Formats: sequence, structure tokens, C-alpha cells
Amino acid sequence: MSSSASPGPGRSVLIVGASRGLGHAMAAEFARRGWRVLGTVRGAGTPLHALAAQHPDAIEIETLDMTAPDQTRALRERLADRRFDIVFVNAGIANRAPGDTMAEVSDEEFAQVMGTNVLGAMRAVEAFAPLTGPDGVVGVMSSGQGSIANNANGTNDVYRASKAALNQAMASYAGRHAAEARALLLLAPGWIRTELGGANAPFGVEEAMPQIVDVLIAQQGARGLRYLDRHGQPVPW
Ligand SMILES: NC(=O)c1ccc[n+]([C@@H]2O[C@H](COP(=O)([O-])OP(=O)(O)OC[C@H]3O[C@@H](n4cnc5c(N)ncnc54)[C@H](OP(=O)(O)O)[C@@H]3O)[C@@H](O)[C@H]2O)c1
Repeated sequence: MSSSASPGPGRSVLIVGASRGLGHAMAAEFARRGWRVLGTVRGAGTPLHALAAQHPDAIEIETLDMTAPDQTRALRERLADRRFDIVFVNAGIANRAPGDTMAEVSDEEFAQVMGTNVLGAMRAVEAFAPLTGPDGVVGVMSSGQGSIANNANGTNDVYRASKAALNQAMASYAGRHAAEARALLLLAPGWIRTELGGANAPFGVEEAMPQIVDVLIAQQGARGLRYLDRHGQPVPW
């Protein structure tokens, strides 16, 4: 199912990277609250497809690999006449061996993590932010590990660097768009059990996602860039 037609009434959210994990749980939570959700996936038969089959009036699916600029441009064109209350760029990856230092990670994997978490995410922000109204919310999934101030133990070099670079790029975006009334959000969701977070993470999506969605919705009507955790508390940059 790939459709940009019939938006229908009510509040709406575009979630980039909603196939599984936190993005899928976010789609389910917004739908549960009566929002219309357009979620993007890269493949077929994902958990989002199953959710959309259960809620065909609430959930639409589009295809996007955000590391492919032609796909980002094409989706922006397909959605040109659509407006969303919230645009949220969730998609992200970690390197396969998170303990690898900068000296150990391969050039290819470094480029893949940076190309996804920074370049792909920011191209999605640039493309889809204008689909929110003047008082809309544009959010990106950062991480507490993007905080330079909180980096006391030096683990996860590559992933940390990618999220810190994402934060910096969003700060630049915010500076360039300071005259606009949109709320911009870098969200640090906490350590949550997903494929990326792993089985040892202390929180499940069922507990964390309502809090994450509360924080996103609370940004409506705010202005400028914030870096917040899922309790709405500022994270030190
Ligand atoms: N879980 C945690 O503890 C945690 C903590 C802090 C931050 N985060 C951040 O939260 C976000 C979601 O993480 P998660 O834990 O839900 O991970 P996950 O279960 O591995 O899901 C990752 C999601 O990103 C999508 N994705 C990856 N590369 C993409 C690309 N090039 N284009 C489009 N979509 C792409 C995946 O799609 P496919 O299904 O097609 O692969 C999937 O939907 C990430 O940005 C992550 O860095 C997670």
C-alpha cells in the first residue's frame, strides 16, 4: 500500500522510518490517539504493514530510503499538497560493533552510519519540514548519546558522533529558520528495547512511547529548537 491520497480530517503526523521499533510504536500510539499517520518503510511485509491492515483509515504507508536523495525528492513531490501537524524523522542505525573506536570502524561503516543518521535525516528534515504548517512541529530522533556534555565514558564512538553531528546540523537548520514559528525538537528517547537498543535496555516501547508522543504533542505552539528527553526535560548539549 503506497498512497498519498485522501488525507481526511483530524490531526496528522508523518513518521520517517516507521517499519518497526520505535517508529512503528510511534505510529501505533498516534493512531490509538485518533491521529492520521503516514509512515515510511523501505521494504514489504513490515510490522507497520500489519498495523495499517488493522487500521486502514488511520495509517498510510509510503516507501523511502532516506539515504537515496532521489527517493526523498520524489516523496516530497508526491506529498506536495499534503500538510502534517507533526513531521518526525525517526530512522537511524548503529554500527554493527558499537564498541569499535574511530580507529577500528571501517570507512564503509562509518560512512553508512553518518550517511544515514546525519545526511539522510537532515535531507528528510529539509524536504518534509515545509509540509508542516507555520505552527507545526519538526522532530528528529536524536539520542542521549548525542550529548557531548554527558559523554563521560567514551563508549559507542561512531554512533555518538553521528547523533552529536545530527544535533549540530539541526542547530544550523534552526538558525537558518529562526524567523519561522515552527517548533524543532531533538528527542532523546532513553535506552529502549528494540533491535537497535538490544534486549538489555531497561525500558520497553509500551512504557516509553506514550511519554515520547506526549513530548512531541506538547511542542505544538512552541518555537525554536529544543533537545529534550522523553519526560520533556532538557538534555545538556
Ligand atoms: N532503541 C534505543 O534505545 C534508542 C535510543 C536512542 C535513540 N534511538 C534512535 O531511535 C531511532 C529508532 O531506533 P530503533 O531503536 O527503533 O531501531 P530499529 O528497531 O533498528 O529501527 C530502525 C528504523 O530505522 C529505519 N531505517 C534505517 N535506515 C533507514 C534508511 N536509510 N531510510 C529509511 N529508514 C531507515 C528502519 O527501517 P528498516 O526496517 O527498513 O530497516 C527502522 O524502521 C533511531 O534513530 C535510533 O538511533 C534509539
